[in-house]
Amino acid sequence: MTDHFHWLIRTLHWLMAIAVFAMLCIGAAMVSSVAGSHSWLTGLHRPLGMLILLLALLRLAVRLMTRQPGLPPDMPRLQQRAAQASHILLYSLMIVLPLVGWATLSAGGYPLILAGEVQLPPLLEKSNTLYALLRPAHRWLAYALLLLILAHLAAALFHALIRQDGVLQSMLPGRAKK
Ligand code: HEM
Ligand code: HEM
Repeated sequence: MTDHFHWLIRTLHWLMAIAVFAMLCIGAAMVSSVAGSHSWLTGLHRPLGMLILLLALLRLAVRLMTRQPGLPPDMPRLQQRAAQASHILLYSLMIVLPLVGWATLSAGGYPLILAGEVQLPPLLEKSNTLYALLRPAHRWLAYALLLLILAHLAAALFHALIRQDGVLQSMLPGRAKK
């Protein structure tokens, strides 16, 4: 059994942790600012969100193709299930949230500009009804992700400081045992 996640998963985990946290802050700042800073933040939010979508798909593929360190066998079954469920939810939100953002823009009839002239095609037809559903859905999914990240962080600290069972080390630099 291996004791570390694949090096690419570990690299993506920490890069994406920074990117996702930045996106939550950018999103919150974006909706509470006007004029110059609003368009500057929007110009950052869209391409960074789409990059997170791409990286999440790459990370999921690597995860499905490589072996993961198992959770400590003495961990209660309920906690093991909760850990697995939280990972599935984190992946789902890292994929669904950017797609809902993209769909929101499409439903509102706005272009998804990545940089300069580069823009992506709409995901769906312009529709006021869908826009009215998707716009708040993006917000609630973003805040659900924030809550999940806080719980994930608390679990990581619990493993590192209280159980001291090597779970945090499995995501840190180190050579994987074969
Ligand atoms: C992991 C990825 C993403 C996260 C964490 C995220 C987070 C957020 C947050 C926290 C808000 C503010 C919500 C509110 O209080 O109303 C927001 C707004 C928004 N996001 Fe995202 N977002 C992500 C990806 C995307 C993507 C890829 C797009 C579009 C391509 C997008 C489009 C939007 C739009 C249009 C708004 C509303 C902006 C406004 O009304 O001024 N988001 N996002
Ligand atoms: C400072 C913040 C963070 C810490 C200390 C941390 C710590 C860890 C640790 C120790 C693991 C491996 C243990 C386990 O199997 O549960 C892990 C796995 C994981 N973390 Fe985090 N994490 C942080 C932020 C994030 C963020 C922001 C996300 C995503 C939005 C995230 C998503 C994941 C996922 C999906 C896994 C499962 C392994 C994988 O396939 O990547 N983490 N994290």
